[in-house]
Amino acid sequence: MPRTVYYTATTLDGFIADPEDSLEWLLRQTEEPPDDGFIDGVGAIVMGATTYEWLLRNLDGPWPYSVPAWVMTHRKLPLPEAGEDGKKPDIRFAKGSVSDRYFEMCTATGDRDLWVMGGGDLAGQFADEGFLDEIITWTAPVVLGKGRPLLPRRLDLELIEVGHSDPFVIARHRVVGPLREDG
Ligand SMILES: NC(=O)c1ccc[n+]([C@@H]2O[C@H](COP(=O)([O-])OP(=O)(O)OC[C@H]3O[C@@H](n4cnc5c(N)ncnc54)[C@H](OP(=O)(O)O)[C@@H]3O)[C@@H](O)[C@H]2O)c1
Repeated sequence: MPRTVYYTATTLDGFIADPEDSLEWLLRQTEEPPDDGFIDGVGAIVMGATTYEWLLRNLDGPWPYSVPAWVMTHRKLPLPEAGEDGKKPDIRFAKGSVSDRYFEMCTATGDRDLWVMGGGDLAGQFADEGFLDEIITWTAPVVLGKGRPLLPRRLDLELIEVGHSDPFVIARHRVVGPLREDG
């Protein structure tokens, strides 16, 4: 069974983008994007429309992913251009409940991970259905005060692993389930 993992960078106060969807606070942290090998274990990706539009605006070359990528949207969005090899990116637009697509997504992973790229509410939609297994956060030494939330839900988590890659703190949490409301 593939793992469904929300893997993202965040500020210390729990935002994945500023209110204008800027990631400038993140991109200036390191010259090269750090690589922990996570992407090598990914068999399919799912993202929301805002994240996809950010990627399209900031593409520096062809679409960077070779695995199938679902984009959840109610709109008709453009496709990126084919790469130099003429190969079209495998991008699949979908809308509605994530449970309608989950089997298809998991099948496409070929037993590797399903990467929930974001945003936070989309990760929440997977958690609502009990599909979200893990959350891996790269926390940057920044607070923004406001912005796009990391995960606007009430969940219990279990810390599995913690590490750092300067200047980030990396944490891996298992999703236990809805927050226990004991009193
Ligand atoms: N820090 C990081 O590593 C990181 C990672 C990922 C994203 N980001 C950034 O964080 C921000 C996230 O933006 P966001 O919170 O707006 O989230 P988002 O998930 O990227 O986009 C939300 C939009 O996706 C569409 N959508 C979501 N679920 C849907 C569903 N079930 N069916 C149909 N459409 C659905 C809707 O758009 P429509 O109805 O308009 O189509 C919704 O308004 C972006 O700026 C992104 O670039 C940062």
